[in-house]
Amino acid sequence: MTRYSVELGDRGLTLRNIQGVENRDRSVPLYANYLWLRDNCSTSWDIEIGDRQFDIVEQPLNLRARSAQVQQNELVIVWEHDGHQSRYDIEWLARWLTRPGHDDLAHVPVNLWKSDFRESMCRFEYSSIAGDPEARIAYLRALLTDGMALVEGVADSDDGVKHVAEIAGHVRATFSGYFFDVKAYPKPVGTAYTARALEPHTDVPCEQYPPGIQYLHCRVNDVVGGQTTFVDGAAVAHDLKTLHPLDFELLSTISVPFRFAHDAMDMRARQTVIVLDDFGEVQGVTISQHMADIFDIDQHALDDYYPAFCRFGAMLRDRKYQLEFRLEAGQCIVFDNQRIVHGRSAYDPNSGARLLRGCYSDRGELRSRYRVALRSLPNSREKVGNI
Ligand SMILES: [Fe+2]
Repeated sequence: MTRYSVELGDRGLTLRNIQGVENRDRSVPLYANYLWLRDNCSTSWDIEIGDRQFDIVEQPLNLRARSAQVQQNELVIVWEHDGHQSRYDIEWLARWLTRPGHDDLAHVPVNLWKSDFRESMCRFEYSSIAGDPEARIAYLRALLTDGMALVEGVADSDDGVKHVAEIAGHVRATFSGYFFDVKAYPKPVGTAYTARALEPHTDVPCEQYPPGIQYLHCRVNDVVGGQTTFVDGAAVAHDLKTLHPLDFELLSTISVPFRFAHDAMDMRARQTVIVLDDFGEVQGVTISQHMADIFDIDQHALDDYYPAFCRFGAMLRDRKYQLEFRLEAGQCIVFDNQRIVHGRSAYDPNSGARLLRGCYSDRGELRSRYRVALRSLPNSREKVGNI
């Protein structure tokens, strides 16, 4: 039988000889802070509501354990100041003290792609992802790994794109509203609403939080020209890091201004061109010549920044990264607006009609839907909640 020792300190306790985590060296002691332990007592959460009800801010900062011992598979602590008893599953505790953080089903390996992605891009029928849980999981996973997927069989109605978007989240608004119709207007409010070519870009960087997932539902497209192009910005950023590490450093650390302004609007925000996550990995890109404001960083810094910016911009236009195809009526292309750079070639507005109806949803909600969809599978061992 394993013997455990618990050593009480001033601000935390040390556990020795703890089992419970695979391949863990039991001779290595585990330390746990008292405030963390008290905050994460299993009684802290309201089981029905799901929220933490306990408020650590109301506890004394010099919180101490009066006693602590391992009984069977639990660490049992009695707290000094109020006599409250906390119990912790020893396997749960050892896991958090060894490898903090929730396991995340939505943290899936990213598939960085180039122009040959055309053959492997995932295609789904709308009726299938709307009605079949396994098809829906495959669709959500494709968005997480590839950053894009094509949905076909979408009804030719104003709500068609909304129904696609609602599979991965709620439609979220931008400064221009919940939905937008991309066509050539007599009095356009942006390049997108003309028949001109659109350089490779990500949408709406002039907002503090640019939209995550973008949907473009093709209602009609029989014009001459108007091919749609996509580039995996994360793949290009990775290659930039290898080829020009200093450029990568500049583009991922210095933020630059973006702006969209006309008579009734003046949206401004700063973004880095290459966006890193908390672990320093590329999580996306921000690029938009038509919304880039006048760069306001130090002119000497621009001596290095501009060449880096232009080298990265030129790489994004290199055909070896570029996927080009023609959206057909009834198709909806779904892509991660913070990773996949999109554009279009010019078209002749007098040669026919071209109408794409678009909207956005949130990246975080996509991950949430994916976790919940996997958890709903019959053999899932995933749990709701924290304890
Ligand atoms: Fe766009």
